[in-house]
Amino acid sequence: MDKIKVAVIGLGGISTTCSLPNLIKINNVTVTAVADINKNRLNTIADKFNIPERYTRYEDLLEKNDSDAIIVATPTATHKEITIAILQAKKDVLVEKASCEELMTKQTNCRSSKARTSGKLWLE
Ligand SMILES: NC(=O)c1ccc[n+]([C@@H]2O[C@H](COP(=O)([O-])OP(=O)(O)OC[C@H]3O[C@@H](n4cnc5c(N)ncnc54)[C@H](O)[C@@H]3O)[C@@H](O)[C@H]2O)c1
Repeated sequence: MDKIKVAVIGLGGISTTCSLPNLIKINNVTVTAVADINKNRLNTIADKFNIPERYTRYEDLLEKNDSDAIIVATPTATHKEITIAILQAKKDVLVEKASCEELMTKQTNCRSSKARTSGKLWLE
């Protein structure tokens, strides 16, 4: 069976202590790409976890990487924009922690409608 290809956007505390160390232990998962706006952090973490594809713009990752699913681990205020872009790119998404307050209150229908329209999963 082909491995599930996962990418991670945002390489701070939660990614480096939780997401990446656990993902690399899963036999049928391969982490194919990472993105972070901090180039030093990007290269340091990608080297540490031996991840080949690196991007400083998540938009480039969405355009060039062929992952099946993406983990969003950027600051909370960025979750809405990035998550909607991922769904529009037709990929499943897991967002670390609940989406921003605006999305949860003013736009309570956004999550379900965006996920439904894309036909992809949106997990938190
Ligand atoms: N699920 C949990 O148990 C849990 C635990 C801790 C944190 N969180 C959540 O995870 C998210 C990240 O938390 P953290 O502590 O790792 O934050 P952090 O500040 O340590 O790391 C965030 C990283 O995202 C990068 N970044 C910022 N904007 C970006 C963008 N537009 N594109 C790509 N990279 C970008 C930063 O350079 C940084 O490396 C937050 O929403 C936080 O609330 C969830």
